[in-house]
Amino acid sequence: MLKKYFIPSILCILTTFIVMINVLPAADNQPFPEEITINNEGYEADRKGPVEFTHTDHTESYEVACNECHHDYMDGKNIWEEGDYVPKCIECHDPQESDGNVKNLRLAFHRNCKICHQNLAKEGITEDAPYTKCNGCHS
Ligand code: HEC
Ligand code: HEC
Ligand code: HEC
Ligand code: HEC
Repeated sequence: MLKKYFIPSILCILTTFIVMINVLPAADNQPFPEEITINNEGYEADRKGPVEFTHTDHTESYEVACNECHHDYMDGKNIWEEGDYVPKCIECHDPQESDGNVKNLRLAFHRNCKICHQNLAKEGITEDAPYTKCNGCHS
């Protein structure tokens, strides 16, 4: 009687292991930080205070797509997809110098954050996303 179930149980255990192996790498995924204090070093002069950024509000409440901010360019096309590793902006954007299209870190942040906010105001959608007032972002 028992022998009849031996092979199926082994198969079952094996399947469980295979499933576990496939699922395990998910544990290595980068955590999604809800709030981020943007406070990089390496600028010529650190003239402005750090910036508190509401990561979850931007993605969930304001419905901004991940690839509006995260990118990996290949032949001029953004090939970054949700689930891909997210390097820090500073890993590609130097705090001191721009390199052609790869703007320096301050410009990279300002263009990303301010241009979107400015467009929202231009289109009459909202004035609550800061783009002129420095202390709307910098503490
Ligand atoms: C929409 C948000 C936003 C607004 C508005 C904004 N900034 Fe920034 N700024 C940032 C972010 C984000 C950084 C990157 C901070 C870091 O890397 O530590 C930054 C970096 C900087 C830096 C380089 C880092 C430093 O502290 O020296 C300067 C200078 C700066 N901003 C000046 C200004 C000035 C002046 C204004 C107003 C005219 C302004 N910013 C408005 C978001 C903003
Ligand atoms: C409005 C801009 C914006 C949007 C939208 C956005 N992020 Fe981010 N995200 C950032 C910024 C800025 C950082 C901090 C980068 C840095 O410190 O250089 C960050 C950091 C991260 C990090 C942490 C990286 C680390 O250093 O460990 C992960 C993971 C991440 N984002 C994933 C996502 C995913 C997934 C989505 C979509 C669901 C998303 N982000 C949407 C701006 C954004
Ligand atoms: C893997 C490298 C890499 C990382 C990480 C990266 N960038 Fe970039 N970024 C680039 C490259 C390359 C370009 C130029 C693309 C092109 O050819 O136009 C660029 C362009 C930009 C532009 C367009 C600038 C313009 O000309 O108006 C903005 C804004 C920007 N990045 C902001 C960010 C922000 C904010 C982060 C972090 C959340 C970030 N980048 C992370 C490589 C990177
Ligand atoms: C693609 C569009 C987009 C980008 C990129 C973007 N934002 Fe925003 N941001 C919004 C929207 C939409 C709101 C909500 C405005 C409202 O309340 O009506 C907002 C609101 C804000 C506010 C005020 C409310 C809050 O949640 O704190 C701050 C501060 C802010 N953004 C900072 C940033 C910074 C810093 C960056 C760059 C790292 C950034 N944003 C990038 C769309 C964007």
